[in-house]
Amino acid sequence: MRPTTIAALALLSACSLLRGVMSAQQNGQLTTQYALYTSSYSGDVKSFTFRPPAGITQNGNVGNETTGGKPSWLTFGGKLEQSHIIYATNEATPGEVNVLTSGADGQLTALGGITRTSTGGNGPVASDLVKDQLFVANYDSGSAAVLPLSPDRAALFPAKVFNFTRSGTGPVTKRQNAPYAHDAVADPDGKFVYVPDLGSDVIRTIKVGERADMAELLAETPVEPGSGPRHLKFVEDAKYYTHGHGASANGQFRRHSHDVKHVAYLTSEFANTVTAFTQDPQTGKLSQIGARIPSVPPGTQLGGDAENGPARTLAEVQTSVDGALIYVSNRGDSTEDHISVLRRLPNDSLEWLAWYPSGGRNTRHFSISPDGRYLATANQASGTLAILKIDGEHLSIVAKLEDQDQINFAGFAPW
Ligand SMILES: *[C@@H]1O[C@H](CO)[C@@H](O)[C@H](O)[C@H]1NC(C)=O
Ligand SMILES: *[C@@H]1O[C@H](CO)[C@@H](O)[C@H](O)[C@H]1NC(C)=O
Ligand SMILES: *[C@@H]1O[C@H](CO)[C@@H](O)[C@H](O)[C@H]1NC(C)=O
Repeated sequence: MRPTTIAALALLSACSLLRGVMSAQQNGQLTTQYALYTSSYSGDVKSFTFRPPAGITQNGNVGNETTGGKPSWLTFGGKLEQSHIIYATNEATPGEVNVLTSGADGQLTALGGITRTSTGGNGPVASDLVKDQLFVANYDSGSAAVLPLSPDRAALFPAKVFNFTRSGTGPVTKRQNAPYAHDAVADPDGKFVYVPDLGSDVIRTIKVGERADMAELLAETPVEPGSGPRHLKFVEDAKYYTHGHGASANGQFRRHSHDVKHVAYLTSEFANTVTAFTQDPQTGKLSQIGARIPSVPPGTQLGGDAENGPARTLAEVQTSVDGALIYVSNRGDSTEDHISVLRRLPNDSLEWLAWYPSGGRNTRHFSISPDGRYLATANQASGTLAILKIDGEHLSIVAKLEDQDQINFAGFAPW
């Protein structure tokens, strides 16, 4: 064998060990491809394949009839025979969850026919999976629900709904007149779920129970008044864990030891800041590390007004695969929005490095490929799905797909 062939075979076997990265021989050339799923407020959930350097092909699509009209967030579930499961929230009143399956060819269908399940509140915007329980954040009604999953992976009626309350109104009066639950995020051990409440300037802590009906509302962590906490992300240090709850890079299940340090980063939508927290894995307590860090370059005007909050609003947060960098999406630019890159310091506080064009306007969500090489952005206002290449601390746009209507989620699948 020539050395190049040996290198290619070595790369092929290395790639095939990584979850979320498929390798294939095409015309004698080694190619890597990635499964990508999007949702849009125009009603669609779509599946795509991204083939570097710049190929994006659509495989499947379900529209209003299946999604209910306002799909807002996708949570990747397990495998069912040859298909993968996806939970899609429908940000409607009342809120719903759809269970979709993606076949080997990327075709999308509703699991067991169209059976949308109540989320026990209105306007669900995010969800996360812990064992056989789906935690959902209902933005409009300011609540979080726990939906048990049946053995065949269907979502069942909520076993528990936590209706949050707040007294009075927060500083951003028109958007903090009530609780608004914006995210539901499990910690790496799957023991606690955190719900940033944008309307109340707190992060709610839910203790996960053995069964869905045993979940308990535990505590709330106050954050800066008027900051609008939106999304939280635990660092996925490669040396500790990579994706999901206990799944290591080579797909083997691994429990975490309890002496592992848990660190999480919060984006605050109005303040346009990122806050670092350590989490006590036993009690779930979050403790802020240092000061909040602006997500925009020094001197950037936030615009807007006191009642509605700034014109610039911070949205999604992700971490690099090795846990060394934090990425956040900034919204509100008139031409093109940005992804900021922040470095984690040894004491887990952050240092702002740079920002890069996100590929469109209103970058509501973005994700990172499981191998850490690409970042996909959902740009709602311009209707653009964009792929950025990650080179260390530098990001560059390599592919764009326009006409994606009000695309609001772009998730690289873990398969
Ligand atoms: C789907 O539903 C959304 C939300 O109700 C609506 O804006 C959109 O026009 C609908 N699309 C179609 C094709 O009916
Ligand atoms: C929570 O609020 C919903 C309305 O959004 C209501 O139907 C339900 O009864 C409330 N649940 C509890 C436990 O208070
Ligand atoms: C973390 O380390 C940096 C760099 O040494 C330092 O400037 C900062 O004050 C530290 N933050 C905390 C909260 O200890």
